[in-house]
Amino acid sequence: MDENILKHLRAWFKKNAATLPWRPAELDTPRNPYAVWISETMLQQTQVSTVKDYFVRWMERFPDVETLAKASEEEVFKYWQGLGYYSRARNILKAARIIAENAGMPNTRKELESLPGIGAYTAGAILSLAFHKREAILDGNLVRIFSRFYALNFLPDGKAAETYWDYARNVADSPKAYMHNEALMELGRTVCKSKTPNCTSCPLAIGCRAYHEGRAEEFPPKRTRIQKDWHGTALVIESADGKILAVSDGQAFLRGQLALPHFETQRNATAGIPQQAERYIDSDKVASVEDCGSFKHGITVHKIECRVQHIKLKYKAAGRFTWVSKDAAKDVFANSFSLKALKLALS
Ligand code: ADE
Repeated sequence: MDENILKHLRAWFKKNAATLPWRPAELDTPRNPYAVWISETMLQQTQVSTVKDYFVRWMERFPDVETLAKASEEEVFKYWQGLGYYSRARNILKAARIIAENAGMPNTRKELESLPGIGAYTAGAILSLAFHKREAILDGNLVRIFSRFYALNFLPDGKAAETYWDYARNVADSPKAYMHNEALMELGRTVCKSKTPNCTSCPLAIGCRAYHEGRAEEFPPKRTRIQKDWHGTALVIESADGKILAVSDGQAFLRGQLALPHFETQRNATAGIPQQAERYIDSDKVASVEDCGSFKHGITVHKIECRVQHIKLKYKAAGRFTWVSKDAAKDVFANSFSLKALKLALS
C-alpha cells in the first residue's frame, strides 16, 4: 500500500477509532506491553464486544506481570472462563512466570516468540503497539483486507503465508507501524467485514482491486470448516457426605482442567454406569444412578453431545481424588462443559 493510501487509512482511524479499554484516547501514546499482550491474546479468537469486560476484570485483578505470575492456574482460569480456548490462559500464566523471573517484558520478536502462546501475531502487536517498532502483524482482519485489496484468491496457508506477511511488513515499514497495524484491524472489524463489506466508507477503496472489480465479497476464498462430533457421558459423582468428584484427566479439549469425569461413549449408550467410571468409583457401592438427560456444547472444533448421570455413592469422599462441596462446585469448575452437566444433575 502506498503512502497516499496509508494517509487515508490513518485519517480514517483518527476519526473512527472506537473507545476501547486497552486503547488510550491519544492514539500515538505507546502502550503498556503487558496490557497489549493480554488484550491481543484475548482478542485472537474472541470478539471485541466480549473481550472488553474480561479485559477490565483481568487488569483489576492482575494489573501487572508480577501479580499474574503469583496467581494459581485455577484462579487464572476463573478470570478466563467463558472466553474459550483455555490453552491461551494456561500459556499466559506460564509465560508470565518466565517473564517475572527475567527482566520484564522482552522487546524483540525472537524473545517474545520463544514464550509459550506468543506467536508471530501477538509478538508483532506487542512490538508495534507498545514499543512502536516497525513490526508487522497478520490476523484474520488483515488477511481479508489484503486479499481484497490485491485480489488474492488464496488463503495464507503454507508458503502462501509469506505473500501475506510481505504485504503486512510493507504497511509496517513506517514510523507509524503501530497505527497502520491497529487501523487495519479496526477497519477489518467494522468496514471490510467478511459479509457485507461497506466499501463506500472505506479509506482504501480507491486502491482496492476487488472493489474496482465489484467482487469484494468473493475474497478471501472460503475455508471449509471441519467439525468433529463427540458423544460422551459426564458423571456427577456424589459421595455419601454430599461432595462432588472433580478430575483433571479428561478429554484433550479440556486438557489439564478440573472437570467432571467424562468419557467418549456410544451415541445411544444404554442406561447403567459406563465401565470407564470404575477408575474413579467402587461400582459395588453405588446407592443410586439417575439419568439426567443430555446437553449440547461446542469447544473449538468439537461438536459435543453429552449425557449426564448422577451417581450417588454409599461411601464418603475419600482416596486420591479431588472432592468439592456442592456449593463450591460451580466456582471450582472453570469450564462450561462441567457447569452445564452439573446444572442438569443438581437442579
Ligand atoms: N482486533 C484485535 N486486536 C485489535 C485491536 N487492537 N484493535 C481493533 N481490533 C482488534
